[in-house]
Amino acid sequence: MRIKIKNLDSSYIGKTIAVKGWVRSLRSQKTFSFIALNDGSTVAGIQCVYDQACEGYEETLKLITTGASLSITGQVVASAGKEQAVEIKVDTVTVIGTCDAELYPLQKKHHTFEFLRTIAHLRPRTNTIGAVSRVRSALSFATHKFFQERGFLYVHTPIITGSDCEGAGQMFKVTTLDEGNPPKTPQGKVDYSKDFFDKPAFLTVSGQLNGEAYACALSDIYTFGPTFRAENSNTARHLAEFWMIEPEMAFADLTDNMNCAEDYLKYALRYLLDTCGQDMAFFNDMISKGVVEKLEHVVSTPFERLTYTQAVDILQKTSKKFQFPVEWGIDLQSEHERYLAEEHVKKPIILTDYPKEIKSFYMRQNDDGKTVAAMDVLVPSIGEIIGGSQREDRLPVLEKRMDELGLHQQDYWWYLELRKFGSVPHAGFGLGLERLVLFATGMENIRDVIPFPRYPHHADF
Ligand code: 4AD
Repeated sequence: MRIKIKNLDSSYIGKTIAVKGWVRSLRSQKTFSFIALNDGSTVAGIQCVYDQACEGYEETLKLITTGASLSITGQVVASAGKEQAVEIKVDTVTVIGTCDAELYPLQKKHHTFEFLRTIAHLRPRTNTIGAVSRVRSALSFATHKFFQERGFLYVHTPIITGSDCEGAGQMFKVTTLDEGNPPKTPQGKVDYSKDFFDKPAFLTVSGQLNGEAYACALSDIYTFGPTFRAENSNTARHLAEFWMIEPEMAFADLTDNMNCAEDYLKYALRYLLDTCGQDMAFFNDMISKGVVEKLEHVVSTPFERLTYTQAVDILQKTSKKFQFPVEWGIDLQSEHERYLAEEHVKKPIILTDYPKEIKSFYMRQNDDGKTVAAMDVLVPSIGEIIGGSQREDRLPVLEKRMDELGLHQQDYWWYLELRKFGSVPHAGFGLGLERLVLFATGMENIRDVIPFPRYPHHADF
């Protein structure tokens, strides 16, 4: 019976089992060879000791190259090496798929992450990207577990949409018109009334607006799906396609929202530390010294909570020099956010009550007339990891704000109706899964924590 390598512990000693996987390396001695086999279930893999006394040893050995896929049967024995508790004393090796050593790009040497991005189809076979993938999966599972345990319903919001949730005009267009010869209006513009949806359509930047509709019926919901931003941001924190987790709660205000965000982050990171010990030890040793201690600190300490105005005051008083000068009203830059979290409080920080001019139309206006009930969660080394708000639930206030921003009310008619028919205070937030994976692993570039990254000039694979 095939056993996943992760599960092979000393309880298997003496038993004959089968493992399947890909060769990481082969070391041949005089009378036997060490095959390092990995099946992706764990960072460590298993050492298999292949003796020349085995039938077909010489012929099979020729086919055992790095990258080849094998099925191995043998006896689990205690290992003499200090790297592993058990190893396999091989009975049979079946080569399932050979791998041309001359052509295989993943040889046993150090490869840069830039190079690995050019072989994104093979990079999950490396220790780092394998570990990232398992962490990503664990954090996704923890997300569902957290919200499901608290009675939130998982809602699938649409990928194709007519509304720009963030109002930032950073949307990818979805069209089936013939780009060489599109139908035109009498004014000479492209006639989208002839398009698939009879109007312009886009890939969503956020599921929030649809999420609000469901929260205003089912109380607590969350969406977790791909979102798209056509922003030309060539940074280590931005992707054109990323996965966003967006809870939305009815009968909730900004404080409820902050509490939910803090509880969720702590829960997900605790789950990761408890279930992915080997992978986290790998990140701690090889990628980011001290990352485990950092996460332990985050899950055990209350987050700092400050208003935007207090944050601006702190940034103006510090002797630290910033590239972008700070004054009330600016959109905080990553350098400011990182200073606050990394150096000022040395832990996650929730900033609230931002100037309305720099935030989206749907955020609830505060009584001061200048700020909105927004919140951003900032974490050390990343900056913003969560953005959210209490939503404007008062119809006249929302309509006025949309007019000020030049948003057409008819485009949002259904969203406005939620405020006409049984409106309730409600709040929610969005967390980019990739930012969370970056933070949790200590990886440097967001392009290395999503399987096939999409960013300007890159949509390969
Ligand atoms: O702050 P944002 O734009 O908020 C929204 O989209 C709201 N509609 C969310 C809500 O209230 N339901 O984005 C939320 C989060 C950010 O904090 C960040 O983690 C992530 O999404 N994010 C990105 N991640 C990777 N690449 C990008 N280009 C990102 N833009 C935002």
